Amino acid sequence: MNIEAVLKDPQAMYNVDSMNMFRALWGLPEQCADAWRLGTQGPLPVAGAISNVLVTGLGGSAIGGDLLRVYSAGKMAVPVAVNRDYVLPAYVDRSTLVFVVSYSGNTEETLSAYEEARNRGCPIVALTTGGKLKELADRDGVPVITVPGGLAPRAATGYLFIPTLAVLERLGLLSGLEAEVRELVEHLEEIRENLKPEASLEDNLAKQLARDFYNRIPVIWGGSGTTGVVAQRFKGQINENAKAPAYWNVFPELNHNELVGFEVPKELLEKLYVVILKDEEDHPRVKIRMEITRGIVAKAVSGVTEIKSSGQGVLARMYSLIYVGDYASVYLAALYGIDPGPVRIIDYLKAELAGR
Ligand code: F6R
Repeated sequence: MNIEAVLKDPQAMYNVDSMNMFRALWGLPEQCADAWRLGTQGPLPVAGAISNVLVTGLGGSAIGGDLLRVYSAGKMAVPVAVNRDYVLPAYVDRSTLVFVVSYSGNTEETLSAYEEARNRGCPIVALTTGGKLKELADRDGVPVITVPGGLAPRAATGYLFIPTLAVLERLGLLSGLEAEVRELVEHLEEIRENLKPEASLEDNLAKQLARDFYNRIPVIWGGSGTTGVVAQRFKGQINENAKAPAYWNVFPELNHNELVGFEVPKELLEKLYVVILKDEEDHPRVKIRMEITRGIVAKAVSGVTEIKSSGQGVLARMYSLIYVGDYASVYLAALYGIDPGPVRIIDYLKAELAGR
């Protein structure tokens, strides 16, 4: 298999991309701009004092909740939690603003969580393309932000995350976002030029990563600030787009357990490829931990790459890394000869569950 030949041939990659994942990736900056616009419109829930925020969803519809959680941690007076379950935590009550997020609007765990939030009298905002969730929300007079369909949920992180920022700003819980979203859009427009299929392997970090991941198991590590969630996103995108295994963890926690497990079995460890995601705002001690850790694992695994976020604001920096991981995962799919779009296993599971 000639890795370079595959990565040099955009048309061949487009030919096996039945759901236009490459097109969706290219459109991410425009998606983020549109998502902001959608979030700034429409009714808001009637809410008293909000003491906490909960995002409930699954998979591609939940990761935006994690992005919100880490984004807002240093900026917002109330905490954000993410719920990936049928049930809500016991503390959720009328003072909890609940974002119910489902791209399809038909995910059973999310619909169940919606009913619970309703029963507890929570102020709710539904974020969806339609489906049963929109039906229920319309019936109940719950505000719905309706985003465009036609994408895979995981290709819609802009739509499934950015509107929550707009709502929180409108409710007076966050500020300064318009300029930050503008910077995000401009930054993504700039960096996609070096990530797109037409960019050469030498210039394209995502292609280089796919080459390094091929026939290996990617292990993605981020920091406890904003990059841990990006590591989780990298991992999920490799799973869903390339249909391949990948693992993730976070500093400093991984220094207290995972790192100890790099001694044996040597022949399996040689199959791992480690990526360390870095950000200028990583805790100074975490920066040192990353450096020491790299030295420890480098001897055991097939390779280690460090990737530093770029851009000014937190949003641009987070998405600069997400963009690289998203593109890398579709290039990896191309190397395996896999169509990145369909997720037959998830569809099969949902269909099996629906019949029981
Ligand atoms: C598929 C994907 C999945 C879905 C998840 C929940 O592209 O990313 O992780 O997001 O199965 O479905 P929705 O988003 O429709 O609620």
